[in-house]
Amino acid sequence: MEADVRSYAVTHLPGDGIGPEVTAVARDLVDRVGKRHGFTIDWRDCPLGADYYLRTGHVLPDEVLQDLRKTDAIMLGAVGSPSVPPGVLERGLLLRLRFDLDLYVNLRPARQRPGVETAGADDLDFVVVRENTEGLYAGAGGIAHQGSPFEVATEESLNTRAGVERCIRYAAGLARKRNGKLTLVHKTNVLVNAGSLWMRVAKEVAADTGVQLDYAHVDAACLYMVSDPGRFDVIVTDNLFGDIITDLAAALTGGLGLSASGNLNPDKTGPSMFEPVHGSAPDIVGTGQANPAGAVLSAALMLDHLGEPAAAADLDTAVDVVLAAGGQPTTQAWADALAAHLAHTEVAR
Ligand code: IPM
Ligand code: MG
Repeated sequence: MEADVRSYAVTHLPGDGIGPEVTAVARDLVDRVGKRHGFTIDWRDCPLGADYYLRTGHVLPDEVLQDLRKTDAIMLGAVGSPSVPPGVLERGLLLRLRFDLDLYVNLRPARQRPGVETAGADDLDFVVVRENTEGLYAGAGGIAHQGSPFEVATEESLNTRAGVERCIRYAAGLARKRNGKLTLVHKTNVLVNAGSLWMRVAKEVAADTGVQLDYAHVDAACLYMVSDPGRFDVIVTDNLFGDIITDLAAALTGGLGLSASGNLNPDKTGPSMFEPVHGSAPDIVGTGQANPAGAVLSAALMLDHLGEPAAAADLDTAVDVVLAAGGQPTTQAWADALAAHLAHTEVAR
């Protein structure tokens, strides 16, 4: 009976640029695996983004945020447009959602997938746990004497013990489920204040949880990610370092088109938000060339978070199968190939 069917309310926030193109594919595939695994998605369309801002003058109205809070998850496409000044949407929409919904972990898996050549050494399979609400992203700082020769601009990195600890605890929990090894990435030799806090807390959490703690400076970590990525399994790092090293990880594993992320509220006090790591890519909007794999893999992270790991694994495997066969040149061809794989395995069951 219907009452047995699991159902999740998910906000679909396609956003800007190629966001609508790639999330349409992800949404369709989520519905397909839902049918197979016995759940439905109650999609709630959310129009926020550049067009909404230009039309209404608002980036994220409070009442819309309240509606988002009531859903189980948010599937986001991309945020940012050349028609809006830099920072308005990035800070006002994307970062505000991360901060206000307390999405304190940005989970970014990086894995060498079949058929995809890596630009670096083999044996790359790690997860970056990026702190997602503090650090240099917190917005502390300002400009004085603007336009004069005495102009001064500051950005301060905010690191609270509670914020650092909850992020490292999440990473340690993940490490325990994988191979028990956690690497802190920071720059403790120069950023001695924040670095000291991160290091002390990491040692405490490691002692408490029994994970093996390793450490790499962020510059060295970039080098190792290319030359010896096998040394990493779970990496935990601050907001800006995490932003930067995950673009490198993406480049090493087939490009931004394949990279997925989950902005997580691990305590599940509100919805988590899932988005491909790529941006709105205004240069290819409407060309049909956008690769939906990053969005599909982000949807897989979402299903896993919602408690549907088998459906998540189906999406992940479908992407691997299509990649192993050489990938696809267009959004539609990707969508067709992924759907065909799912239909095929359905019959084979
Ligand atoms: C990311 C992006 C964002 C970030 C931008 C769009 C604000 O680069 O999700 O990695 O810096 O976090
Ligand atoms: Mg980034």
